[in-house]
Amino acid sequence: MLFPDYRARRMRMNENLRRMVRETQLDVGDLILPLFAVDGKNVKNPIPSMPGQFQLSINHIVETAEQARGLGIPAIILFGLPPRKDPLATQAYAKDGVVQRAVKAVKDKVPGLTVITDVCLCAYTDHGHCGVVEGQTIDNDASLDLLARTALSHAKSGADMVAPSDMMDGRVAEIREALDEENFSHIPIMSYAAKYCSAYYGPFREAADSAPQFGDRRTYQMDPANAREALREVSMDAEEGADIVMVKPALAYLDIICRIKEEFDLPVAAYNVSGEYAMIKAAAERGWLDGPKVMLETLTAIKRAGADMILTYFALEAAQLLNSH
Ligand code: PBG
Ligand code: ZN
Repeated sequence: MLFPDYRARRMRMNENLRRMVRETQLDVGDLILPLFAVDGKNVKNPIPSMPGQFQLSINHIVETAEQARGLGIPAIILFGLPPRKDPLATQAYAKDGVVQRAVKAVKDKVPGLTVITDVCLCAYTDHGHCGVVEGQTIDNDASLDLLARTALSHAKSGADMVAPSDMMDGRVAEIREALDEENFSHIPIMSYAAKYCSAYYGPFREAADSAPQFGDRRTYQMDPANAREALREVSMDAEEGADIVMVKPALAYLDIICRIKEEFDLPVAAYNVSGEYAMIKAAAERGWLDGPKVMLETLTAIKRAGADMILTYFALEAAQLLNSH
């Protein structure tokens, strides 16, 4: 049918019609809130490049987790800032590490909220890389044991799901095996499967104090120019036992989300990363664009591209808006 028999505007005439034909519904149930846990009591350090985000001591993590649950957000993902760093990231898998204690506190005080932990070494190593450093290179296989130990210690602390973000080859299988051996076969793995080497992580590295002290992450994170390689990464992680596969960042990689959604039957997560958050906040602060509207448009676009869930620093704000509609 062609104009004038077909008129696309007919179904846009009022909000009722627009609602009825709307193809994508952003839902509070899609959102996962990232939080940064730090030692101390009553600490709430603002992160300058991420307005509205803070490094939080455990009492504030619990408070924010309560707020998230109250708004209907199903899950948080925890990152940790350890009191000290060393070459082998010992605080990443310490029994009384900050993430381990934060998990326990949230599971204890905010039952019903799903607690995911980011599994990586970069915030815990003195060199800031996501794996073990040998000379000037990152030793893949030597990193696997430490990553598995980290995931296991999170599970022992009560984590509901673990999310490896290191991009070492073979880590999903190693983590799956470590969890299964210790009776954690019920704990799912959300794998950062297609994680690109992105400058959009800039604000996060300030927030988590996790910038590499030499070199960069290009030998383990993906080249932004590659799409087919992302499918390969996802199929490897799927075969190793990933329960959810993630694309990260989200906005510059909507094509990757779309292709992965089409080609695989696993749930797809997308990480709306720190730089994506910072850009919107910065422009909104200057009055250059309407922050809340751009936020909802962005999250809807990520969902439309194929994401089943979205990790986003906007989670609380977006949930408030969605609940008020
Ligand atoms: C660490 C990690 C990073 C992010 C999540 N886990 C940064 C990095 O790889 O340097 C980025 C999150 C964000 O930018 O919001 N492996
Ligand atoms: Zn890392």
